[in-house]
Amino acid sequence: MTVEIRTVAEDEAPAYFRTISAGFGSAGSPDEDLAEWQTVAEYDQCLAAVDGDRFVGGASAYSFEMTLPGGALVPVAGVSNVAVLPTHRRQGVLTGLFTRQLDDLVERGVALAALNASESRIYRRFGYGVGTSSMSVQIDTRHSEYLDDLPPGRLHLVSAQEARSIFPVFYDRWRRGRAGSLARSDAWWDIMLGPREGWKGGGEAFHLVHEDAAGEIDGYASYQPQSRTEHGNFQSVVRVRELVGADGGVEAALWRFCFDVDLVRLARAEMRPVDDPLRWRLVEPRQLAVTSLTDQLWLRIVDVAGALSVRGYAATGGLALAVEDPFRSAVSGTYRLEAGPDGATCTRADGATPDLRLDVADLGAAYLGGASFSLLRAGGRVEECTPAAAARADALFRTERAPYCATTF
Ligand SMILES: CC(C)(COP(=O)(O)OP(=O)(O)OC[C@H]1O[C@@H](n2cnc3c(N)ncnc32)[C@H](O)[C@@H]1OP(=O)(O)O)[C@@H](O)C(=O)NCCC(=O)NCCS
Repeated sequence: MTVEIRTVAEDEAPAYFRTISAGFGSAGSPDEDLAEWQTVAEYDQCLAAVDGDRFVGGASAYSFEMTLPGGALVPVAGVSNVAVLPTHRRQGVLTGLFTRQLDDLVERGVALAALNASESRIYRRFGYGVGTSSMSVQIDTRHSEYLDDLPPGRLHLVSAQEARSIFPVFYDRWRRGRAGSLARSDAWWDIMLGPREGWKGGGEAFHLVHEDAAGEIDGYASYQPQSRTEHGNFQSVVRVRELVGADGGVEAALWRFCFDVDLVRLARAEMRPVDDPLRWRLVEPRQLAVTSLTDQLWLRIVDVAGALSVRGYAATGGLALAVEDPFRSAVSGTYRLEAGPDGATCTRADGATPDLRLDVADLGAAYLGGASFSLLRAGGRVEECTPAAAARADALFRTERAPYCATTF
């Protein structure tokens, strides 16, 4: 079998999209799905695997901007639509696609790639690590009383159209303060708040806006009540789709509203930050059940020196990291990081004695502050080569809040 890897022309979009959908097990993809995807597709980053005159797989990328610890905003390739037809699986097609994709990213000077994984066993071999995690929670709303009063402010329900103009403005402010977050283009917002289900799924939603005492918008939420009855009694569920606020107080006010929707007995939310402060507001913290804790954004460091020199650090210090990259051997080597609160440099230093030795996937897990080096060491993923090196690395890479990405793509 000879499979060619090449980019896709715009007029090939329907056949390409059909192939990707088939790779995900869908026999036919609705025209609306194709039309929606075409609003965000970047054809020069849509790679196809072609066998003869047929598409047999693909992998594409979107040009996103990610917030790093310390606030730097950097380009990141949002890898998506990864699929290979069942006829061509386990024959190295994805390996070929990802080899070419990394070549392209190096050429473009993009130091980071990120993706949401369908299965968590696929991507480590390609150098991706768990960069951010998220959790699903649920609470019986009759046990959602708070310890403190809510901050002063007002809540409004707004139409989807109003949300479309209000949410992006606040989100853009908010995402700059949260490592792991991605900028959203107008096209992404159109999809997320459009008339179709949106990529967060689940049908029509209500949209809620919070204003501070001065009338400035400082948070918003989207939620869907799902009506249920048992023995004639309403036991409705409210599903919170997205909820962000300028601080924990604003988020508590948004949650309160969702908990208090009439006839609701249960509130649920997926993709919440693992350090959601809601638990600390509750009189009965045990009532907030974590129903799942999962990998969210897989991160691949493409350019180690570039990525390490651009993020912010919590302390001053130096560290030599021996990085192993079995998928892209040119990345393997020792890197010397000199970090301080005002900036950092990172250079290749292959002769230097390393402080820590680790796989590039695990550097991806530590990069945004999601996993400490000490934790990774305890998990067998980091080897300490000089005494207390993991603790020294933790002091540098520490972040106040867990990294979080609220965008799926
Ligand atoms: C995931 C997928 C794209 C892999 O494509 P592929 O062309 O079969 O991958 P490759 O042949 O290049 O695999 C490379 C290696 O990864 C392993 N691998 C790839 N996908 C795997 C999976 N889902 N489970 C277990 N191992 C997997 C292969 O066994 C192979 O291992 P080896 O080098 O030891 O032989 C393909 O299985 C698929 O389309 N799955 C359904 C859609 C999907 O889940 N896409 C991912 C969306 S995030």
